[in-house]
Amino acid sequence: MTQAARLKFLREFVSKPVQVGAVAPSSRALAERMIDGFDLAGAEVVVELGPGTGSITAAIVDAVGPDTRTIAIERSAEFAEHLQARFPTIEVITGCAQETHQLLIDRGFDGADYIVSGLPWAGFERELQEGLLRAIVRSLRPGGWFCTFAYFGPNYMSKGRRFRRMLESRFRRVETTPIVWGNFPPAFAYQCTR
Ligand SMILES: C[S@@+](CC[C@H](N)C(=O)[O-])C[C@H]1O[C@@H](n2cnc3c(N)ncnc32)[C@H](O)[C@@H]1O
Repeated sequence: MTQAARLKFLREFVSKPVQVGAVAPSSRALAERMIDGFDLAGAEVVVELGPGTGSITAAIVDAVGPDTRTIAIERSAEFAEHLQARFPTIEVITGCAQETHQLLIDRGFDGADYIVSGLPWAGFERELQEGLLRAIVRSLRPGGWFCTFAYFGPNYMSKGRRFRRMLESRFRRVETTPIVWGNFPPAFAYQCTR
Protein backbone atom coordinates (compact mmCIF):
# COMPACT_ATOMS: atom_id res chain seq x y z
CA MET A 1 0.00 0.00 0.00
CA THR A 2 1.41 3.36 -1.05
CA GLN A 3 1.78 6.35 1.26
CA ALA A 4 -0.75 8.22 -0.92
CA ALA A 5 -3.33 5.44 -0.37
CA ARG A 6 -2.74 5.59 3.41
CA LEU A 7 -3.27 9.35 3.36
CA LYS A 8 -6.44 8.98 1.30
CA PHE A 9 -7.72 6.50 3.90
CA LEU A 10 -6.92 8.83 6.79
CA ARG A 11 -8.56 11.80 5.01
CA GLU A 12 -11.76 9.81 4.42
CA PHE A 13 -11.74 8.72 8.08
CA VAL A 14 -11.49 12.33 9.22
CA SER A 15 -14.42 13.40 7.02
CA LYS A 16 -16.64 10.30 7.68
CA PRO A 17 -15.45 8.64 10.92
CA VAL A 18 -18.45 6.32 11.47
CA GLN A 19 -18.62 5.18 7.85
CA VAL A 20 -14.89 4.50 7.53
CA GLY A 21 -14.49 3.26 11.11
CA ALA A 22 -10.69 2.81 11.12
CA VAL A 23 -7.69 5.12 10.93
CA ALA A 24 -5.63 2.70 8.84
CA PRO A 25 -6.32 0.03 6.25
CA SER A 26 -6.17 -3.65 7.20
CA SER A 27 -2.88 -5.51 6.80
CA ARG A 28 -2.21 -8.12 4.13
CA ALA A 29 -1.82 -10.70 6.91
CA LEU A 30 -5.36 -10.03 8.16
CA ALA A 31 -6.72 -10.12 4.60
CA GLU A 32 -5.13 -13.54 4.05
CA ARG A 33 -6.36 -14.85 7.38
CA MET A 34 -9.91 -13.75 6.53
CA ILE A 35 -10.07 -15.83 3.37
CA ASP A 36 -7.96 -18.72 4.67
CA GLY A 37 -9.71 -22.00 3.83
CA PHE A 38 -12.03 -20.44 1.23
CA ASP A 39 -11.99 -21.91 -2.27
CA LEU A 40 -12.15 -18.55 -4.04
CA ALA A 41 -10.49 -20.04 -7.13
CA GLY A 42 -13.53 -22.27 -7.64
CA ALA A 43 -16.13 -19.59 -6.90
CA GLU A 44 -18.48 -18.16 -9.49
CA VAL A 45 -19.26 -14.94 -7.62
CA VAL A 46 -17.30 -13.24 -4.83
CA VAL A 47 -18.55 -10.00 -3.29
CA GLU A 48 -16.53 -7.64 -1.12
CA LEU A 49 -18.31 -5.07 1.04
CA GLY A 50 -16.54 -1.90 2.18
CA PRO A 51 -13.27 -2.47 0.30
CA GLY A 52 -11.86 0.99 1.10
CA THR A 53 -8.49 1.42 -0.60
CA GLY A 54 -8.23 -2.32 -1.34
CA SER A 55 -6.11 -4.10 1.29
CA ILE A 56 -8.47 -7.08 1.39
CA THR A 57 -9.31 -6.73 -2.31
CA ALA A 58 -5.66 -7.39 -3.19
CA ALA A 59 -5.75 -10.78 -1.41
CA ILE A 60 -9.10 -11.63 -3.02
CA VAL A 61 -7.87 -10.73 -6.51
CA ASP A 62 -4.83 -12.98 -6.00
CA ALA A 63 -7.02 -15.89 -4.85
CA VAL A 64 -9.95 -15.92 -7.30
CA GLY A 65 -9.99 -18.02 -10.46
CA PRO A 66 -10.00 -16.75 -14.04
CA ASP A 67 -13.78 -17.31 -14.32
CA THR A 68 -14.72 -15.81 -10.95
CA ARG A 69 -16.76 -12.62 -11.06
CA THR A 70 -15.55 -10.30 -8.31
CA ILE A 71 -17.78 -7.40 -7.30
CA ALA A 72 -16.83 -4.78 -4.71
CA ILE A 73 -19.46 -2.48 -3.18
CA GLU A 74 -18.10 0.69 -1.59
CA ARG A 75 -20.07 3.60 -0.20
CA SER A 76 -17.37 6.24 -0.65
CA ALA A 77 -17.17 7.43 -4.26
CA GLU A 78 -13.58 8.52 -3.71
CA PHE A 79 -12.50 5.04 -2.53
CA ALA A 80 -14.52 3.39 -5.32
CA GLU A 81 -12.79 5.41 -8.00
CA HIS A 82 -9.36 4.68 -6.55
CA LEU A 83 -10.20 0.96 -6.26
CA GLN A 84 -11.46 0.59 -9.82
CA ALA A 85 -8.23 2.15 -11.14
CA ARG A 86 -6.15 -0.16 -8.91
CA PHE A 87 -8.07 -3.35 -9.81
CA PRO A 88 -9.37 -3.10 -13.38
CA THR A 89 -10.33 -6.82 -13.48
CA ILE A 90 -13.07 -6.49 -10.86
CA GLU A 91 -16.31 -4.50 -10.87
CA VAL A 92 -16.46 -1.72 -8.32
CA ILE A 93 -19.89 -0.33 -7.51
CA THR A 94 -20.41 2.90 -5.61
CA GLY A 95 -23.32 1.96 -3.38
CA CYS A 96 -24.51 0.57 -0.08
CA ALA A 97 -23.97 -3.01 1.06
CA GLN A 98 -27.70 -3.19 1.83
CA GLU A 99 -28.33 -3.22 -1.94
CA THR A 100 -26.18 -6.33 -2.50
CA HIS A 101 -28.99 -8.73 -3.42
CA GLN A 102 -30.53 -6.41 -6.01
CA LEU A 103 -27.10 -5.61 -7.46
CA LEU A 104 -26.48 -9.36 -7.91
CA ILE A 105 -29.92 -9.92 -9.48
CA ASP A 106 -29.28 -7.00 -11.89
CA ARG A 107 -26.16 -8.85 -13.06
CA GLY A 108 -27.94 -12.18 -13.56
CA PHE A 109 -26.79 -13.92 -10.34
CA ASP A 110 -29.09 -15.52 -7.77
CA GLY A 111 -26.50 -15.01 -5.04
CA ALA A 112 -22.81 -15.01 -4.15
CA ASP A 113 -20.63 -17.94 -3.10
CA TYR A 114 -18.53 -15.76 -0.78
CA ILE A 115 -19.10 -12.37 0.79
CA VAL A 116 -16.07 -10.76 2.40
CA SER A 117 -16.71 -7.72 4.56
CA GLY A 118 -14.50 -4.87 5.66
CA LEU A 119 -17.48 -2.97 7.08
CA PRO A 120 -16.89 -1.15 10.39
CA TRP A 121 -19.65 -2.91 12.36
CA ALA A 122 -18.64 -1.52 15.76
CA GLY A 123 -19.64 2.04 14.81
CA PHE A 124 -23.03 1.08 13.36
CA GLU A 125 -26.35 1.31 15.20
CA ARG A 126 -28.05 -2.00 15.90
CA GLU A 127 -30.75 -1.33 13.28
CA LEU A 128 -28.15 -0.82 10.55
CA GLN A 129 -26.23 -3.92 11.66
CA GLU A 130 -29.42 -5.97 11.43
CA GLY A 131 -30.34 -4.54 8.01
CA LEU A 132 -26.87 -5.27 6.67
CA LEU A 133 -26.81 -8.82 8.04
CA ARG A 134 -30.26 -9.49 6.55
CA ALA A 135 -29.01 -8.27 3.17
CA ILE A 136 -25.87 -10.43 3.45
CA VAL A 137 -27.72 -13.63 4.33
CA ARG A 138 -30.20 -13.00 1.50
CA SER A 139 -27.36 -12.44 -0.96
CA LEU A 140 -25.51 -15.68 -0.13
CA ARG A 141 -26.22 -18.93 -1.91
CA PRO A 142 -27.12 -21.84 0.43
CA GLY A 143 -23.83 -23.19 1.79
CA GLY A 144 -22.14 -19.87 0.94
CA TRP A 145 -19.61 -18.25 3.23
CA PHE A 146 -19.46 -14.83 4.85
CA CYS A 147 -16.45 -13.41 6.64
CA THR A 148 -15.80 -10.19 8.45
CA PHE A 149 -13.04 -8.94 10.71
CA ALA A 150 -13.31 -7.65 14.28
CA TYR A 151 -10.74 -5.89 16.41
CA PHE A 152 -9.42 -7.92 19.34
CA GLY A 153 -10.57 -6.44 22.68
CA PRO A 154 -13.90 -4.82 21.78
CA ASN A 155 -15.19 -8.32 20.93
CA TYR A 156 -15.31 -9.00 24.71
CA MET A 157 -17.42 -5.91 25.39
CA SER A 158 -21.21 -5.96 25.31
CA LYS A 159 -21.57 -4.60 21.75
CA GLY A 160 -18.96 -7.05 20.46
CA ARG A 161 -20.63 -9.99 22.22
CA ARG A 162 -23.98 -8.88 20.82
CA PHE A 163 -22.54 -8.83 17.30
CA ARG A 164 -21.32 -12.40 17.69
CA ARG A 165 -24.78 -13.48 18.88
CA MET A 166 -26.29 -11.76 15.85
CA LEU A 167 -24.01 -13.81 13.60
CA GLU A 168 -24.78 -17.03 15.48
CA SER A 169 -28.52 -16.51 15.14
CA ARG A 170 -28.28 -16.03 11.36
CA PHE A 171 -25.66 -18.54 10.25
CA ARG A 172 -25.45 -22.31 10.54
CA ARG A 173 -21.84 -22.15 11.74
CA VAL A 174 -19.65 -19.31 13.05
CA GLU A 175 -15.92 -19.85 13.51
CA THR A 176 -13.17 -17.47 14.54
CA THR A 177 -9.70 -17.34 13.04
CA PRO A 178 -6.56 -16.90 15.15
CA ILE A 179 -5.74 -13.27 16.02
CA VAL A 180 -3.46 -11.35 13.66
CA TRP A 181 -1.29 -9.53 16.20
CA GLY A 182 0.64 -7.66 13.51
CA ASN A 183 -2.49 -5.88 12.30
CA PHE A 184 -3.12 -2.39 13.67
CA PRO A 185 -5.10 -2.84 15.87
CA PRO A 186 -4.83 -6.64 16.35
CA ALA A 187 -7.82 -8.34 14.76
CA PHE A 188 -9.35 -11.68 13.84
CA ALA A 189 -12.12 -12.77 11.51
CA TYR A 190 -15.47 -14.46 11.87
CA GLN A 191 -16.00 -17.05 9.15
CA CYS A 192 -19.68 -17.94 8.87
CA THR A 193 -21.49 -20.57 6.81
CA ARG A 194 -25.02 -20.02 5.59
C1 LIG B 1 -12.89 -0.08 8.20
S1 LIG B 1 -12.91 0.49 6.50
C2 LIG B 1 -12.23 -0.99 5.78
C3 LIG B 1 -11.54 -0.76 4.48
C4 LIG B 1 -10.80 -1.99 3.95
N1 LIG B 1 -11.70 -3.09 3.71
C5 LIG B 1 -9.73 -2.43 4.91
O1 LIG B 1 -9.95 -3.43 5.61
O2 LIG B 1 -8.71 -1.76 4.98
C6 LIG B 1 -14.67 0.38 6.14
C7 LIG B 1 -15.07 0.65 4.71
O3 LIG B 1 -16.48 0.36 4.57
C8 LIG B 1 -17.09 1.38 3.77
N2 LIG B 1 -18.53 1.37 4.09
C9 LIG B 1 -19.11 1.80 5.24
N3 LIG B 1 -20.44 1.60 5.20
C10 LIG B 1 -20.70 1.01 4.00
C11 LIG B 1 -21.89 0.53 3.39
N4 LIG B 1 -23.08 0.63 3.99
N5 LIG B 1 -21.81 -0.03 2.17
C12 LIG B 1 -20.59 -0.14 1.54
N6 LIG B 1 -19.42 0.30 2.07
C13 LIG B 1 -19.48 0.86 3.30
C14 LIG B 1 -16.34 2.63 4.17
O4 LIG B 1 -16.50 3.67 3.23
C15 LIG B 1 -14.90 2.09 4.25
O5 LIG B 1 -14.30 2.10 2.99
